[in-house]
Amino acid sequence: MMTLRFSICLFAFLFPISMQAQPKPVAETPQWLEKSVKVARQQLMAATRAYQPGLNPRSTNQDGSARLADYKDWITGFFPGSLWYGYELTGEDKLAKAAERFTLGLDSLRYLTHTHDLGFMIYCSYGNGYRITNDKKYLPVLEQGAKNLNARFNPIPGVIRSWDFGEWKYPVIIDNMMNLEYLYWAAQQFHEPKYTAVANTHALTTMKNHFRNDYSSYHVVDYDPKTGAILQKGTHQGLTNESAWSRGQAWGLYGYTMCYENTKNQKFLDQAEKIAAYIMNHPNTPADKIPVWDYDVHNVKSERAPRDASAAAVIASALIELSTQVKDGKKYLDYAEDMLKSLSGDQYLAKPGENNFFILKHSVGAFLFNSEIDTPLAYADYYYLEALKRYAQVKHFDTKK
Ligand code: GLY
Repeated sequence: MMTLRFSICLFAFLFPISMQAQPKPVAETPQWLEKSVKVARQQLMAATRAYQPGLNPRSTNQDGSARLADYKDWITGFFPGSLWYGYELTGEDKLAKAAERFTLGLDSLRYLTHTHDLGFMIYCSYGNGYRITNDKKYLPVLEQGAKNLNARFNPIPGVIRSWDFGEWKYPVIIDNMMNLEYLYWAAQQFHEPKYTAVANTHALTTMKNHFRNDYSSYHVVDYDPKTGAILQKGTHQGLTNESAWSRGQAWGLYGYTMCYENTKNQKFLDQAEKIAAYIMNHPNTPADKIPVWDYDVHNVKSERAPRDASAAAVIASALIELSTQVKDGKKYLDYAEDMLKSLSGDQYLAKPGENNFFILKHSVGAFLFNSEIDTPLAYADYYYLEALKRYAQVKHFDTKK
C-alpha cells in the first residue's frame, strides 16, 4: 500500500498536472446554441404549466389554439421525451420531475396493439426516462410495448405491419424504420434475441422494397400477408406515388443509422450514407437546408411549398449520429450544424411565451390532407432537442451553464 502511494506521489511529482492526460476541455458554447437552449427551457417550463399529463401537445389548430392528443395518438411520447432532453440539456430538476409525471401519465400505452408507432410512443417517453434515471418503474411498459410491437411481425413478407386502418392489406411505411431501435434495445434489456432478428429482417426487407435507384423511398409498400408479394408501392402523405416525401426520407436516414449503430452490419451503414447523399445533394433543397415538405415540389417559392422543420430536425439528429459512426464524419456534422443554425434562427425558433409553448415553428403534418400545414409539431421539437444534445456532446459544449 505504502509502495503504491509512494509511486502515485512520485508520478505526480515527475509529471505535473499540465503534463498528465487531461479530459478534453469544454469548448466555449456558441451563442446560437446557448440561446436555443434558453428558449427551449422557457418554452418547456411554460408547457409543463399549461398542459396536463395524459393530454399532450401535438400541434396548433387553425384557430391558433393548441391541438392536444391523448395516449392513443402516435405523437404522445414526444412531449415527455422533449422534457427528458430539456432536462439533459439544462440540468433543470423541474424538467426531470415534469418529464416523470408526463411519462407516467401514459401507462395505458402498454395495452396498445393496433399500431407500429409503439416505438415513437413508448421509447421516446419511457425509454428516455429509464435511460436517464435507471428507475425500474419504467420497465413494465417498455417490456409489454416491445412484446406488442414484435407481435406485429409476419415472417412471410418479413416486415412489421404499420397500420390497421385503410384499404391496404398489409401496409408498411418507411416511418416504421424508427421503431427498430426500440426492439434492438429491448432484445438486450429483456433477453429476447428474437427481437433483434425481427428488427434485422424488417430493415433488410424494407431496404429491398421501399427504395428507388436514387435511394429515395416510397412512403407505403402494401404486401400480401399470405404470400409476401408486393401489391402496391406509393404514398400517403407525400406529393405523388413517385415523389420523395421529406419526412419519409428523414425517417429512413435515421432508421438505418440506428440499425448500423446497433448491429454494425455494413449494409445498414451503406444504406444510411446513400440516403444521406440523396438528401444532402438534392437540388430542391433551399439555401438554409430546411426542406420543403416533399423534395419533388419543384417551385420552392410557391405557396404550396411550406418548409418542414420536423424533417430538418430528424435529419440533423440522424446526421450527427451518423458522423460518429464513420471515419470521415465531418461532412455530416457540418451539414447538421448548418441545419441547426437555421432552425435556431428567428425564422424557425419561437419567441418565449408564443407558439403554444412549442419550440420550433413551420412544420408540415400532411399537406394534401390539409392537415397541420405550417404549424409547430411535437416531433419537430423532440428531434431538435435530441439533435442539440447530440451536437453539444460531439463538440464538447456545456449547455448547462
Ligand atoms: N409517422 C407519421 C408522420 O411522420 O407524419
